[in-house]
Amino acid sequence: MRLELLSGLKTPCYVYDVALLRRTLDAVVASQPCGSVVHYALKANSNKHLLQIIADAGLGADCVSGGEIRLALAAGISADKIVYSGVGKTDDEIRLALSQSIGCFNVESVEELQVINDLAGASGAVARVALRVNPHIDAHTHHYITTGLSENKFGIDISVLDEAVALACSLSHVQLRGLHFHIGSQILTLEPYKLLCEKVNALQEKYAGQGVAMDYINVGGGLGVDYDNPDENPMPDFAAFFNLFKTHLHLQPGQSLHFELGRAIVCQCGSLLSRVLYIKQGLDRQFAILDAGMTELLRPALYQAVHKIENLSARGGEMCAYDVVGPVCESSDCFGTDVELPVTHRGDIIAIRSAGAYGESMSMQYNSRPLPGALFINE
Ligand code: LLP
Repeated sequence: MRLELLSGLKTPCYVYDVALLRRTLDAVVASQPCGSVVHYALKANSNKHLLQIIADAGLGADCVSGGEIRLALAAGISADKIVYSGVGKTDDEIRLALSQSIGCFNVESVEELQVINDLAGASGAVARVALRVNPHIDAHTHHYITTGLSENKFGIDISVLDEAVALACSLSHVQLRGLHFHIGSQILTLEPYKLLCEKVNALQEKYAGQGVAMDYINVGGGLGVDYDNPDENPMPDFAAFFNLFKTHLHLQPGQSLHFELGRAIVCQCGSLLSRVLYIKQGLDRQFAILDAGMTELLRPALYQAVHKIENLSARGGEMCAYDVVGPVCESSDCFGTDVELPVTHRGDIIAIRSAGAYGESMSMQYNSRPLPGALFINE
């Protein structure tokens, strides 16, 4: 990133490398299984400009709120390519999704299934639904972002799935399209996905044997990125990820395959830029106090996530260790301890890398701070 570009920049601010986003989307589209649909998970980043580029690349949308459904539609994503997940869909949100005839509700409980049926009935509609199955697969990620274990609140437990399938088949205002899975996020090995394929195959065989027709299999998202080496690995190995499903998943004739990728698409194209406000000498350490904090990027405070930190103003030379912290009144407002940086001064611009996913979308106004701006480079 050229520093001249940044001299007048108002910080903190997200900067997005649009060319990298486009290359990432090209790689997704080139390697996804023929006929499959990749639904971009808007929760990762719903910045309108990025969303427009993603929509223009032909991806569908994975939404978790009425607000996300509206954003996806506004970006021109057709309603039939929108799927809607979430354990706590409100009546208003369900009505919105019904009025737009979205492609599929990913239903998370039998209670929700009943409510969707009632609301669809009231408006004379038939809701297309998939049942989100909790497959009990350990994706070996941080416990806050694992979703496929029995103790998680997500999905319908396999032990009650038969009951949910029978109910879905009996209700007159829902049409059961198939099954949905999502086993977690920031998954760095393909092994959990192989286990997922085996689970899906077994369930499919069972329900096909019972004559339950399903035309939709959604295997969710979760593909992880390399936070330590964003320059060396600017995108995940999409071909290996998709090939695993091509090899191990046995689709029934006429079935469509769906993915919900968020982080893998937008993470590496975004950095959070910030200025150093103070270099404060502590008793046994030096603090680099930034004008960005947990309000702009919550991941380190919430998940102990480690993002690569760079000083864009330093011209090399002597290195020094800093605790890089934000200005917010919380001890957890810390981006990293003992971070080796070139000797750093007030006014230097600091980049926190791999912040394109779950950065801007999770920013907040705690301490009555303004929300961060966004800058787009390499358009
Ligand atoms: N589908 C469902 C049903 C999900 O719950 C999620 C993410 C995704 C798809 C997209 O997952 P991805 O491909 O982005 O891993 N805020 C956390 C991540 C939370 C993920 C929540 N669900 C973080 O900053 O690491």
